[in-house]
Amino acid sequence: MTFREVLTRRDGALYLEDVPVAELVRRFDTPLYAYSRQGLIERAERMRRAFGREPHLVAYSIKANMNLAVVRTFLDRGCGVDVTSRGELERALHAGADPEKIVFSGVGKRADEIDLALEVGIRMFNVESLEELAALDARAQELRKVAPISFRLNPDVDPKTHPGIATGLHTAKFGIPIEEAPSAYSRAKSLPNVRVIGVDCHIGSQLTSLDPLREALVRINETVLSLREQGHTIDVIDIGGGLGVEYSGQDDPPTPEAYAKMALEVLGSLGVTLVCEPGRLLTAGGGIFVMRALYRKANAGRRFLIVDGGMNDLLRPSLYQVEMRIETDPLRSGDPAPVDIVGPVCESTDCFAKDRLLPPVEPGDLVVVRDAGAYGFAMASTYNGRPLVAEAMVDGSRAELVRRRQTLEETWQAERMPVWES
Ligand code: LLP
Repeated sequence: MTFREVLTRRDGALYLEDVPVAELVRRFDTPLYAYSRQGLIERAERMRRAFGREPHLVAYSIKANMNLAVVRTFLDRGCGVDVTSRGELERALHAGADPEKIVFSGVGKRADEIDLALEVGIRMFNVESLEELAALDARAQELRKVAPISFRLNPDVDPKTHPGIATGLHTAKFGIPIEEAPSAYSRAKSLPNVRVIGVDCHIGSQLTSLDPLREALVRINETVLSLREQGHTIDVIDIGGGLGVEYSGQDDPPTPEAYAKMALEVLGSLGVTLVCEPGRLLTAGGGIFVMRALYRKANAGRRFLIVDGGMNDLLRPSLYQVEMRIETDPLRSGDPAPVDIVGPVCESTDCFAKDRLLPPVEPGDLVVVRDAGAYGFAMASTYNGRPLVAEAMVDGSRAELVRRRQTLEETWQAERMPVWES
């Protein structure tokens, strides 16, 4: 079962749910991110339903898209949140998250971040090193709290994804080697202000096969059994995020149902609460990135289409050399021809697609990147003096701005001239 298409064509024009993309652009201009509320809801509900009546928590990995309206949509559907910084934690709380449903991941938690998480009483810290464990115990002692923890175990499996988003190999900076689990858990047990409640792992992102995940979870299962033998209480297993989505039209990622079934097959007999941390799966397909075509040209036989969005607005194609599907609006008649779709940023890597077969496009036409709801706006910057773009959300035939475009002044507001200039 695939997800319902949220971006469709009607009489040649693109619609996000029931709103013409051209209307979104008339109202909110380009470049623009736009999200389908129903698309987001469908993804969250399918993920939650996939675990059925088994005790579970879908902790939305907020790094994928931290817009408050997006986060709120998931909170309203019963999701928790996976955070990696104070900024994400405060955002999650601001959006109305229940601290009991927040897990805190990441290799570099600072003392002030730990303090806030302890004060609000989050569900679990995913601890990534023994030094972090010591810091956590010390902060908790200072605040007269007990920190609920799991260790992020690195199972040393190859997630078979882009090297930039693989985390589960033993050479990665993430987690502690799975074979060191017994000593890490004993160490934790000896500390008065941490309480072991679980085990965590996350092997990478955009996984298009369940095999590496299964392999990781099989190792986790064995480890939990031996930890229990040693007298540790393991009530929670956080299986991380990483489920891939369809980007190019040929990815064929596993469904949430197959994912949950696999996790329950491997870990179901342990009687634990399963936490998962999907980011991309919940948001990618529910979002588009809309740009306007500016110019066409040919250099030494290469055809270029220059658009008004750049790598600063949507970094994924430049950073990971990934193919994302691109549509044009209006749909003009004529033979498709290969073209490089490039932005205005002064770097050759500012390229959304190379040799992409596109129907004829004229200046002013819309160029729309699909599946841009995850790690799109979240990774945007103001490089080349370009303000952060606007974000809109559509619900049926309604559309609202959920983040206004940054003004130019806002891009330099925090800066000041040093005194020697005055
Ligand atoms: N949990 C942890 C501990 C993570 O590090 C991540 C992602 C997730 C959950 C969520 O993974 P997801 O379900 O979204 O795959 N910028 C890259 C993706 C980086 C992922 C980082 N960690 C991209 O655009 O492909």
